[in-house]
Amino acid sequence: MTTPLPPREITGLTRVYGILADPIHHVKTPQMLNTLMAREGRDGVMVPFHVASDDLATLVAGLRAMKSLGGFVVTVPHKTAIVDLCDAVSDSARRIGAVNTVRREADGRLVGEMLDGKGFVGGLLAAGIDPKGKSVYLAGAGGAANAIAFAFVEAGISRLTIANRTRAKADDLAARLAEAFPAANVEIDTPDPSGHDIVVNGTSLGLKDGDPLPLDAARLAPEQIVAEVIMQPEETALLTAARAKGCRIHFGKPMLACQLDLMADFLGMRALAGDDK
Ligand code: ATR
Repeated sequence: MTTPLPPREITGLTRVYGILADPIHHVKTPQMLNTLMAREGRDGVMVPFHVASDDLATLVAGLRAMKSLGGFVVTVPHKTAIVDLCDAVSDSARRIGAVNTVRREADGRLVGEMLDGKGFVGGLLAAGIDPKGKSVYLAGAGGAANAIAFAFVEAGISRLTIANRTRAKADDLAARLAEAFPAANVEIDTPDPSGHDIVVNGTSLGLKDGDPLPLDAARLAPEQIVAEVIMQPEETALLTAARAKGCRIHFGKPMLACQLDLMADFLGMRALAGDDK
């Protein structure tokens, strides 16, 4: 994902991929996946499909008729609404209640997957942090936190503590985790993250200058790893506070790199052995 490569010539055989969003001006996924496809020698292109929530169902119905469609990425605000517009979704996407990548199968069926949480856990693994057997403290119970919570439990953590401003959302997430994974050890707790191996900010706090910290950073200890979902700014106030406490910190960016790889695999954008490209 470094220097963008020029797209291949578009021909009658080019697979077309979309990204569905509103607003859409800020997206970076097309640039990165087009570069990846160019590098892989794939005859495909990803373009923006700017669509408002009210028109999402109409657009998806129309896309079903498009035989050259390879699939599409789905982002804010459509990740929840797209679930019921797919023909099938993965078990984890169904549990989370959101989809961010949809593949068009050869028979035209639209199959949805949710890669946000898997990308987050993959980013940790790529940094040499294996959450298996670890205790995790997660601040937040919104869209991002839901995906991360399920991915952590699927990755075999020993214990999950959820803390969210709106308690009902944390209760709801814990109940859905318990239903899907009856053996999972999930608790709801306060802003105090002590006693956990990995501490994660899954809220949107830290995006804006002057945001309060999402948890009580004074309680952090040097043996804890503190990770962010926020990518911009790269070093949030929480990470700065954690660094000052002697914790190992993990930025939000590796989640994106890992997620792009997962999307490329799910959408069939990589050259396969024996492909004639
Ligand atoms: P995303 O898709 O980015 O996760 P979201 O679903 O709107 O966005 O979730 C935002 C998360 O940040 C929620 O956990 C939210 O807490 P609430 O469920 O109580 O709304 C949390 N959050 C946002 N602003 C907050 C604030 N000022 N104080 C505490 N938590 C906040």
